[in-house]
Amino acid sequence: MLRVINLVVFTAAFSTIAHRAAAVIPVEGFGQTKDGSQVKLWTLNSKGGLTVRLMNRGAAIVSIEVPDRDGKKADVALGFDDVAGYESPDNQYFGTIVGRYGNRIAGGKFQLDGKQYQLFTNDGPNHLHGGDGRSLDKIVWQAEPFESGGQQGVTFSYTSPDGEEGYPGNLKMTVKYTVSNKNEIRIEYAATTDKPTVLNLTNHAYFNLAGHGSPTINEHVLRLNADRYTPVDETLIPTGELAPVADTPLDFRQPTAIGKRVDELTATSAKGYDHNFVLNRDGAAAGELVEAAVLVDPKSGRTLTVLTDQPGVQFYGGNFLKGQAGKQGKTYAHRSACCLETQVFPDSPNNQGKEGWPNCVLRPGETYKHTCVYAFGTAR
Ligand code: GAL
Repeated sequence: MLRVINLVVFTAAFSTIAHRAAAVIPVEGFGQTKDGSQVKLWTLNSKGGLTVRLMNRGAAIVSIEVPDRDGKKADVALGFDDVAGYESPDNQYFGTIVGRYGNRIAGGKFQLDGKQYQLFTNDGPNHLHGGDGRSLDKIVWQAEPFESGGQQGVTFSYTSPDGEEGYPGNLKMTVKYTVSNKNEIRIEYAATTDKPTVLNLTNHAYFNLAGHGSPTINEHVLRLNADRYTPVDETLIPTGELAPVADTPLDFRQPTAIGKRVDELTATSAKGYDHNFVLNRDGAAAGELVEAAVLVDPKSGRTLTVLTDQPGVQFYGGNFLKGQAGKQGKTYAHRSACCLETQVFPDSPNNQGKEGWPNCVLRPGETYKHTCVYAFGTAR
């Protein structure tokens, strides 16, 4: 009898310890921002061998270590070794959440319910990625690490006050990252507001599947699930047209090496690949994930599949990377990484109601939702 009781006590104690141990997600200091906020770094692991580091400044992805076809790991995301790098002018939104409106708004102006709003113009004449001092990439978010069903994650939250960066409404946001045992990073965005507002949240991770700091992505092979794209003017503002990709260097409907036609775009306003693609959703329901992109590094065999419920993806080929120093002494050369930013179309606030253009307005009582999955794998 005594032995049975002991066993029960031991089992209960053991399961409590095991439960607690499993819930602990390693966290370390990552430096202090210029205005004195403590920045932390969480390390998430999956059973499939994916290791992802996230920081609370910008709710950002700092690193993604993923195995190649022989099981050899490399960090495939651009970033810096500490928060000072992210605060330097060399930072180009590496891995951060961008917003409130990711991408561009023409002249920083939009009208909503008859009222005119003026946002900060930080990209020539236009507003880019949420503005200047209080754009979401610069905010230190609240963080809640979690472990659920054997998967680890962090939920970041932030309430942007009414008028911050010129946007209307107190906007309550959460960004939940889960690292799944199938080697996926699932990003789930949610937001509510107390006044009508516009928003477009996305993640700005830069990928090089051969490892960050590898000299080019020209040999990476890309497939994009898009028959159309949004052509842009001299300042990268969409003209309003949804044009076919057929017979242009933007046709990635068949897997194609990124470097094959990129030079045809060097002399254009985009300076290479920097376009919003209209995803083929083929009758998919709202909220249903469809494949947006598949990126393959033929040498290492690493693959990245991007799935989303959003109508667009910005394929940005790193045209503004300029050889800056990144993590572990690596440098980030021109076009040595790309971003695949799931989103509504750029300048949607000025194209509301136009045929084929998505809604970007959030009203009180509604909930903004957006899911993006970055799924890593290998090919032979
Ligand atoms: C991208 C954008 C580019 C550039 C980059 C940041 O999302 O499409 O034009 O602004 O961000 O350097």
